[in-house]
Amino acid sequence: MTKPVRIAPSILSADFARLGEEVAAITKAGADFIHIDVMDGHFVPNLTIGPAVVKALRPHSAQPFDCHLMIAPVDPYVAAFAEAGADIISIHPESGPHPHRTLQMIRSLGKKAGYVLNPGTPVEVLDPVMDLLDLILIMTVNPGFGGQAFLKSQLPKIAAARQRINATGREILLEIDGGINEATAKEAIAVGADTLVAGNAVFASQGGKGADYAGAIARLRG
Ligand code: DX5
Ligand code: ZN
Repeated sequence: MTKPVRIAPSILSADFARLGEEVAAITKAGADFIHIDVMDGHFVPNLTIGPAVVKALRPHSAQPFDCHLMIAPVDPYVAAFAEAGADIISIHPESGPHPHRTLQMIRSLGKKAGYVLNPGTPVEVLDPVMDLLDLILIMTVNPGFGGQAFLKSQLPKIAAARQRINATGREILLEIDGGINEATAKEAIAVGADTLVAGNAVFASQGGKGADYAGAIARLRG
């Protein structure tokens, strides 16, 4: 039997005025990971969350914090996110001159290391660092904002990453981020994704009487 798909709601689409409650709510609703998008206004054109917020959110969920760092240079901030309570720390290869060393640093801090491929980044960047990876994150939008359309052009890259993971025989998660909804989730899963980030698809009904995070999460699992 295949393992159920993991769902990682992105709190970028949550109600920032009630972030602790939102994290608790998605946890109760069945979130496997809490996806935290960290943006610096330089590597990507948006500003979001720093380590102090991650630390403040930590008591609101026992699920792993999946921190997606979209900051450059990233090295000076990795330890701060580890100390704040991140469990998985994912970096982009373009976020510093020595991404191999950055992945080593994440592992040395006792955290799981993730590598994020932008839509314009080729899958071959994985090859020299496969032995250091616990998670591969394929972007299906250009990073910076929630609510963008899924780029179907990235499906072959997901399949190519799946082949590479299977060749290692190790457990490496294959996570997809951007434009995931019930239809695109199916397309990503069909080519080998096992973990789906979802912002708008989970939080579209945020805070309102109609909020149904558990239903949204369950439907994405397919
Ligand atoms: C985009 C972020 C995503 C984003 C996804 O830069 O990395 O995690 O929140 O949002 P949706 O699911 O709405 O595309
Ligand atoms: Zn993300």
